[in-house]
Amino acid sequence: MNNYITLSDIENLQELIDEALQLKKKNTAGEVGKGKTLGMLFFNPSLRTRLSTEKAAKLLGMEVMVMNADKDGWALEFEDGAVMDSNKAEHIKEAAAVLSQYCDIIAVRAFPDLKDKEKDEAEVVLKSFQKYASVPVINLESATGHPLQALTDAITISELKTEKRPKVVLTWAPHPKALPQSVPNSFAEVMQKLDADFVIANPEGYNLNPVITKDVEVIHDQDEALKDADFVYVKNWSSYEQYGKALKTDTSWTLTGDKLKKTNNAKVMHCLPVRRNMVIADEVLDSENSVVIHQASNRTFAAQAVLRRLLERKK
Ligand code: CP
Repeated sequence: MNNYITLSDIENLQELIDEALQLKKKNTAGEVGKGKTLGMLFFNPSLRTRLSTEKAAKLLGMEVMVMNADKDGWALEFEDGAVMDSNKAEHIKEAAAVLSQYCDIIAVRAFPDLKDKEKDEAEVVLKSFQKYASVPVINLESATGHPLQALTDAITISELKTEKRPKVVLTWAPHPKALPQSVPNSFAEVMQKLDADFVIANPEGYNLNPVITKDVEVIHDQDEALKDADFVYVKNWSSYEQYGKALKTDTSWTLTGDKLKKTNNAKVMHCLPVRRNMVIADEVLDSENSVVIHQASNRTFAAQAVLRRLLERKK
């Protein structure tokens, strides 16, 4: 693996899941990261990604440097040939090259603006780091994907499933703000690589990027989709069709205890942070069906498996 930008950087998903679960069992430090440094740049807030990736790096023996790039760094210019007479003080060409002098791996979080679909899909921030850095780059959630979260989700389902081919439902849920499609995009991608009966439930107007979901069944009736589900992954996303818009904020799609009764006593997943009683009701989050904390704990092992591959430059 040379970078971890999208799930397509994983050559053999099952092998990586197995490696992560082995790392979880052993919980040993290992030496592969000794004398190496991970640099993490956050253009947006984070709790899990920041701390689990830092923990994973330290378990491998790495040093870690973290920068809130949006607050503490110079405003970056990404345009080639720009006359830099605005508030942007540093070009990505120098920034990425300099970071590569200090870090053996660079990890970047950069959310979309959700205003211009084409611009967001160009993934300028992440791709510019990849282009101008001379060390591997990890995506800590970008405009269109969250591959570390998706690997975690695949690990969690593999670990907790009791059926060979479980029914997994990704259901949209309401949220007061417009959120990116990155988590559901990556989850839809990873589920198509696992042995699962995968269904997406979302209201009309909330279909995800059809390039990603072209082979997935999409149902607009949440109750119908939830029937006999073994796993329910709950997530809000803003409209892809009316790009970046929050079209529906009532709680009719909130995952409640009554809705959960339609499932096969499903395990409930969410990447977190979650808005209680908006996205998922208290009675579900506080029940034994909820595996959200278990899922969050697996973030460390997903990150550890990816970092080890990058350090070893192993496919
Ligand atoms: N799930 C996730 O990425 O959490 P953070 O935004 O807190 O990192």
